[in-house]
Amino acid sequence: ETAEVIRRELLDWYRKNRRDLPWRKNKDPYRIWLSEIMLQQTRVDTVIPYYERFMEQFPTLEDLANATDDQVVKAWEGLGYYSRARNLHSAVKEVVANYGGRVPSEPETIAKLKGIGPYTKGAILSIAYDKKVPAVDGNVMRVFSRLFAITDDIAKQSTRKKMERIAEALIPDSAPGDFNQALMELGALICTPGSPQCLFCPVQSVCHAYREGLEHELPRKKKQ
Ligand code: ADE
Repeated sequence: ETAEVIRRELLDWYRKNRRDLPWRKNKDPYRIWLSEIMLQQTRVDTVIPYYERFMEQFPTLEDLANATDDQVVKAWEGLGYYSRARNLHSAVKEVVANYGGRVPSEPETIAKLKGIGPYTKGAILSIAYDKKVPAVDGNVMRVFSRLFAITDDIAKQSTRKKMERIAEALIPDSAPGDFNQALMELGALICTPGSPQCLFCPVQSVCHAYREGLEHELPRKKKQ
């Protein structure tokens, strides 16, 4: 079955090729949360030194909750999009105030926190808590649009919803977090925007775009 091939090939590939990134050292939900917020609008290489300094300064969720706004903004300086830092700080304080300092593990609860949209929710719940929740970002949208030759405009909300349903059906019971990260990693390393490295792709044999020579035409994005 195709779904089973995709699960197996992607997980095998990820386990052999995963980058040793600082937020992959353990499954502490606070560490995962911080990484996903920093990575939202910023590249991995840029994030790494900021992430390491931030974790040194605020090693636990409580440390961050107890920090002043100025300290947090200062630690974020240079990364940009400062509302990310303000929302994270406010959400972390709420976790201490209302959830005993534990990052909520239920989708409905975590989704109420400031700065946590569908992608971040899925990333935290799957990576830190092994929950089968999709984490569809731009990388994953590109991978799916090619893998299944989906020609819908990826800027549309309905396309994202469609991709989330596809992800839900694909995520394995055994390693949801690894699977979601394998999709992100494939998008970052192989199924790249400019010239995808299809010859090295672990799911080339089941990729509709590759079969039809459409990898450069997809994903489709209407001009604004
Ligand atoms: N981009 C967003 N989340 C990521 C993650 N967990 N690992 C690598 N790149 C990412």
